Parts: sequence; C-alpha cells; structure tokens
Amino acid sequence: MEDSKRKILCSVLLVFICLIQGCHSDSNGGSTCATCDVLMGLVEQTAVIHNETLINSLERLCNYLPDQFKNPCMRFLEYIGPILIEIIEDGDTPDLICHKIGLCYTEKGRQCNLFPMKKNQRLYHYTEDPRLVKKAKRLDMPRIGAGICDLPGIKEICDWINLIFSDHEPAIDLDGDKHSPYETLRGYSWRGKDCDDERRSTHPGARPIDGDREVDSNCNGIKGHTPASNVPYENMFCAQSQPRGIAVLGDSISAHFHLPREWFNSTELSVANFEPLPFIGENELDWPELSYGTGFMNATEELSKVIHGHTDSLYLRLWQRNRCNFRDYQNIAVNGARASSMVDTIEKSLYRNMTGDYPLIVIYALVGNDVCNGHPDTIAHMTTPQDMKKYATMTLQYLEKNIPAGSYVFLTGLADGRVLYDNLKSRIHPIGSLRNDVTYAHFYDYFNCLEISPCTGWMNTNETLRNLTTKRAMELSAALQEVVTTTAGSYKNFKLYYNENPINKVINEWMAAGKPAYELLEPVDGFHANQRGNAEVARVVWEELLQKWPEAIGKENPFNDEIRDMFGDQGGYR
Ligand SMILES: *[C@@H]1O[C@H](CO)[C@@H](O)[C@H](O)[C@H]1NC(C)=O
Ligand SMILES: *[C@@H]1O[C@H](CO)[C@@H](O)[C@H](O)[C@H]1NC(C)=O
Ligand SMILES: *[C@@H]1O[C@H](CO)[C@@H](O)[C@H](O)[C@H]1NC(C)=O
Ligand SMILES: *[C@@H]1O[C@H](CO)[C@@H](O)[C@H](O)[C@H]1NC(C)=O
Ligand SMILES: *[C@@H]1O[C@H](CO)[C@@H](O)[C@H](O)[C@H]1NC(C)=O
Ligand SMILES: *[C@@H]1O[C@H](CO)[C@@H](O)[C@H](O)[C@H]1NC(C)=O
Repeated sequence: MEDSKRKILCSVLLVFICLIQGCHSDSNGGSTCATCDVLMGLVEQTAVIHNETLINSLERLCNYLPDQFKNPCMRFLEYIGPILIEIIEDGDTPDLICHKIGLCYTEKGRQCNLFPMKKNQRLYHYTEDPRLVKKAKRLDMPRIGAGICDLPGIKEICDWINLIFSDHEPAIDLDGDKHSPYETLRGYSWRGKDCDDERRSTHPGARPIDGDREVDSNCNGIKGHTPASNVPYENMFCAQSQPRGIAVLGDSISAHFHLPREWFNSTELSVANFEPLPFIGENELDWPELSYGTGFMNATEELSKVIHGHTDSLYLRLWQRNRCNFRDYQNIAVNGARASSMVDTIEKSLYRNMTGDYPLIVIYALVGNDVCNGHPDTIAHMTTPQDMKKYATMTLQYLEKNIPAGSYVFLTGLADGRVLYDNLKSRIHPIGSLRNDVTYAHFYDYFNCLEISPCTGWMNTNETLRNLTTKRAMELSAALQEVVTTTAGSYKNFKLYYNENPINKVINEWMAAGKPAYELLEPVDGFHANQRGNAEVARVVWEELLQKWPEAIGKENPFNDEIRDMFGDQGGYR
C-alpha cells in the first residue's frame, strides 16, 4: 500500500477523519496531530476523573481495549511514558503536550488547538526549550513531522488496519462469486451470505437451477418440492413473483459510517464499550448490516452498547414484500467514494451474472464527497458538473454491460450539508464532555486548521463558503438529473430514474414534528446520518418508490405467508 494511503488509514482508528475523505496533505501535523490531541484529551480527562497521573490514565485506557490492542497499547505506553514524565508540567493542555512531543507543530503562521487555550499560553515544540533538547536525545523523542504510525505499539495497530483496507472485496470467497460465508472483511455484513462457498452458481440472487429441488442455489432458504405432485417450491412460490435484489453504490453514508460516541466521551470509556472494536474495525468502521440500504438485522446486545436505534432498510422492505428476495443485497459503498472513484474501482466489486441472476435495483448515491474535501482551496477541488456527467455516464455504461435485463437504476442527488453546521454549531462535541468546552463550530475549524476536514465547505464557520458548497452540490444534482433525462431511453437492461437526496427531507420532517435535528446526526464526526437517521431515510425512500415507481419494487408476493409457515426464518442471516 502506498505511503500516503497508509498514513491516512493509520490515523483512522483513533481519529477517523481521513478515512471518510482522504487527507490531501498534512498541515501542522495533520491527522497525526489530531490523533495525538484526541488521545491526550481523553487521557487528561480520565486523569482528572480518577484523580491520577497521565501515565496511570493511559494505562487504564490500554486496559479498556480488547486483547489484540492491549499489548500494542502497552508498548506505546512504555515508549511514551518516560517522555511524558520528563517533559510534561502540571497544567499542560493536551494541545501543548502534543506540540511539545513534536506530533503537532505550527506552520503557515497558524496555531491549531482542539481545546481552549489558557491565558498567555503558547504552544511550542521541545526544540524551543533548551532544557528539553538535552533530554530529547536521551529519550528518543519523535522527530518533528513523524507519522503516528512510526511510533512503537501504534505501528502494529496500523499494520492491522492496512490489512483490512487492502481492497473492498470479500477476504474469504473460495468460489469467486463475491458472496462470503464470513461476516466481516466485506463478507455478509455487506453482501448476502453465501450458503455454499465452493459453488459459484450458488449465491444470493441466482436464478434457481432445476427449481432448487435439491440445492438452494439462491440461498433464500426455499428449496425442495411438494411430496405429492413433485412441484418445486421455488416454482410454486417465487417463479411468478419477479424476484429482485438491491445494490447500493455509495459512500460512507450508504456504508453507514459510525464511530461510537462512547469511545470519545471521557465519562463513558469502559471495557464493555470497547469490546466490539475488532468487529467494527474489520467492517471499516462502517455498519452496512444496519444501514438504510442493506441493513438486515438489529444491533446485537454487544453492539447496542455503542449504536442506538433499530434498523429499517430498503432491503428489509423488499424482503417483506417478497420473501423470495431473501439475502439478496449488496452494499458496494466505500468511505470517501466520489463519482470518479466509483468508476475507477468501486463499481467493479459489484457482482451480478447477467443471465444467471435476477434483476437488480441499483441505488447510485454519492451524497457529498464530490463537493467535500479537506483542501484550504476547497472549491477548486470539487467535482465539476461536466465531470459529474462524464463519470455518472461511465458508471451507467458499466452497469449496462453487467446487470441483468429488467433492472432499475436510481441516480440520487446530493444532500444540502448546511444542515450540519446549522444544527450542531453550538452543541458540545463528545471530546469536550468533561468540561463542556469543545463546540462543533470549534471542532470543524480545528479540522480546517489541520487541513484534514472531511468537508471543508460545509463544516466551516464561513457561511458564504457553506452556501457556495451547496450551490455546487445543487449543480451536480442537476447534472445527474440531466444524465437521466437525456439518456434514460438508451439503456436496454435497466430503467433509469433520478431521485432527490432523502436526507434533507428526513431532517425537515423530523424538525417539523418538533424534534431536534441533531438526534439524526452522528455525534463524533458531525457529518453523517446516525442509526435513527438511517432508519428514517429507508422509510422516506421506500415511500417514494412506492408512490412514484412501484414497478421497481415489484408486487407483493401472495405466497409470503406460505413461505413463512414452511421455511420459517429461511435459514437466517448468520
Ligand atoms: C487526589 O489524590 C491526591 C493524592 O494522590 C490527594 O492528596 C487528593 O486529596 C486527591 N483529591 C481528591 C479530590 O480526591
Ligand atoms: C428490529 O427491532 C424492531 C423494534 O424492536 C422490530 O420491530 C423489528 O422487527 C426488528 N427487525 C429485525 C430485522 O429484527
Ligand atoms: C452466469 O450464468 C450462466 C447461466 O445462465 C452460467 O452458464 C455462467 O457460467 C455464469 N457465469 C459466471 C461467471 O458464473
Ligand atoms: C457524555 O456521556 C455522558 C454520560 O453518559 C452524557 O450524559 C453526556 O451527554 C455525554 N456528552 C456528550 C457531549 O456526548
Ligand atoms: C446563505 O444562504 C442563505 C439561504 O439561501 C441566505 O439566507 C443567506 O443570506 C446566505 N448567506 C450568505 C452569507 O451568503
Ligand atoms: C468566506 O469564504 C469566501 C469564499 O471562499 C471567501 O471569499 C471569504 O473571504 C471568506 N470569509 C472569511 C471571513 O474568511
């Protein structure tokens, strides 16, 4: 993996930002600095809560982590402990600590601080203090500009992350049908579980072979035949029902990016809250299994400690409508995806056999990354309407060659991200939980200062810039709409429609009901829809499908009750 990508991914486990977006460059220490500030912020607050030293708190935090992270964390502690003991003085803020040890620095005349500055405080590096320079040699201090992944202990965690993010295809898939019997690592959290991983013709969405008398070729749990007349159940219950699957081609919104508030709120850190960390990490910090598009389960007891709300999804509703559609979902969404990366790599991980599989409903939903980036000169780096048209058309041409006849494709417009700032600006971010001293407005500007924001345009105190970002988003939505009106008739294998982005509608309805919008937004990143928001999005999109394009979702299967009576949970999901 190339170095820039590695750097991006490494910082993510602790801070996450670059994963959503990708950091164009690091300024003032960039994501390394942010990781340090967040970590030191949690350590410092924990020290206050437990009336103990920073070293003891860091050890406490290491002990909260699951085994595979505990040991690397302890090695990091062994390295950083002596440094902290030598250079930290009472009352140093997390920002000052991270500057002193060299992971943050001040350049371009800009000083970036996550926590409020104390009166007359100056952020400086150890090299600026002659007393510390001598100690630095002895202590093996990080050189200025060192990456967080260069540090002992952290390096091992970075290596683990690199493995996971190597590509976006199932890690375990013997027959190459891109469906897996394994859960994480792009397995069935993402795409319907494979019920036979040694037979390529057997996977969710396959047309039955010989009526599935013997083999359940589409893994929907329906197989066998009537004892008396020898009629296959698939033929009886499904053949006339026009089964179909759903695939989402999207970004972190569709993948359902979620970082638990409980990991960033110093008053909530605990062993129990970190227990699901390996599972969450192996799903790229995404929760496709609970997402608006392809969610198929409610959070388990363990997971529900760190994610709140039940699941509703387009997939679940398609299955309720026609139980023959069981397990036929594919979440082809990648954090940070935009129109160009969809064409370059992401769309190619979709799997559908044009003759062997049922048709597909494809939702193309790139909600904001085409206008979101971390550049100080953010507008210059947004996708242009011309490019949006070009890339969307390339994806459609790819789909035309790869999905079965009778499919449906929806190009979804972009969201208006101004709701984020408008609704979060004066609220407290979890990282400021102990003293209520970090607002989202400040948090956003801190990211901008380090040039690592997932969306400089919308996550910004400058209203003019937020408005300009929305203007471009609307232009890109119009470009998609134009692609649909000018080319819809030219595709043989699918019908093509445009739908408005549902997120603003969801938030407006919520507010009209007298409820605050922040209840639908992710508290840690201040950028995504949360679990409740996902369920609302599913409902709104489904209602629109039902109203405007009922043929896309098909008719209700009159045999649903028989299928349930005979096949129960249809083999389940897990
Ligand atoms: C904190 O610990 C110190 C000794 O380690 C003790 O003197 C002090 O009273 C403690 N403070 C509180 C509030 O418990
Ligand atoms: C999830 O929980 C909700 C509310 O308890 C329930 O209505 C729904 O059926 C559950 N969904 C699944 C997929 O289990
Ligand atoms: C696609 O399905 C057909 C049956 O319709 C089958 O003959 C073919 O081998 C399948 N292709 C792949 C790549 O599995
Ligand atoms: C932090 O956690 C506490 C205890 O659960 C909660 O009351 C508080 O609202 C949380 N703070 C933030 C900013 O999320
Ligand atoms: C931004 O847009 C809003 C809504 O269109 C408008 O009311 C406001 O005046 C604009 N602000 C600036 C600074 O352009
Ligand atoms: C706000 O953003 C606009 C557009 O990028 C820029 O022209 C303006 O100078 C900015 N205002 C401030 C106060 O930085």
